[in-house]
Amino acid sequence: MSTLPHRLGFDKVSLHQDISKVLVDEITIRKRIRELGDIINREYAHKDLLLVSVLKGSIIFMADLIRSITVPHEIDFMATSSYGSGVSSSGVVRILKDLNTSIEGRNVILVEDIIDSGHTLSYLLRILQERRPASLRIMTLLDKPERREVNIHVDWVGFSIPNEFVVGYGLDYGEVYRNLPFIGVLKPSIYGAPE
Ligand code: IMP
Ligand code: MG
Repeated sequence: MSTLPHRLGFDKVSLHQDISKVLVDEITIRKRIRELGDIINREYAHKDLLLVSVLKGSIIFMADLIRSITVPHEIDFMATSSYGSGVSSSGVVRILKDLNTSIEGRNVILVEDIIDSGHTLSYLLRILQERRPASLRIMTLLDKPERREVNIHVDWVGFSIPNEFVVGYGLDYGEVYRNLPFIGVLKPSIYGAPE
């Protein structure tokens, strides 16, 4: 159970009132996902492809991305421990759910919601590489390059964004706001910081 139900607005009329600005709107997201889908269609034509989504933040991106792909592919899911209800990375990553599929010899794209410090991704890459995929590439919806603490190569980025805490389109704060159809900046007062 969330420990923050009241602060996170279940008594509110709309989650929209906790957003200070829309950073990426629905139309812009849709257009970019079409472009990302086209890249996959080109690069993976005639290749076996497995898309791995990291739960839960990337589910909406994944759901829209696979519908913009026309090449045959399979999907699978992993879950890692995240920030919980906080807003900054601990650097400690735990696997909560592993893949159902073997990735040995397969072409894998890891589909991420956001790369912040890079700790989560760096850890995931290490364990997935040990399983000897034929290729392993990374597609992330969002990237906050200013926040990077670990040097990693990201193959495809939907949008590079400034160092602000964002929610919506799958991204949460305390497990809430994932359903917002756009990517918005959360008002700092929501997580107890000055405006
Ligand atoms: P990293 O290990 O610091 O790169 O953190 C990556 C994870 O932190 C993401 O998969 C998100 O779950 C979470 N995260 C990082 N920045 C944000 C943000 O601005 N909004 C919501 N979640 C975030
Ligand atoms: Mg999260």
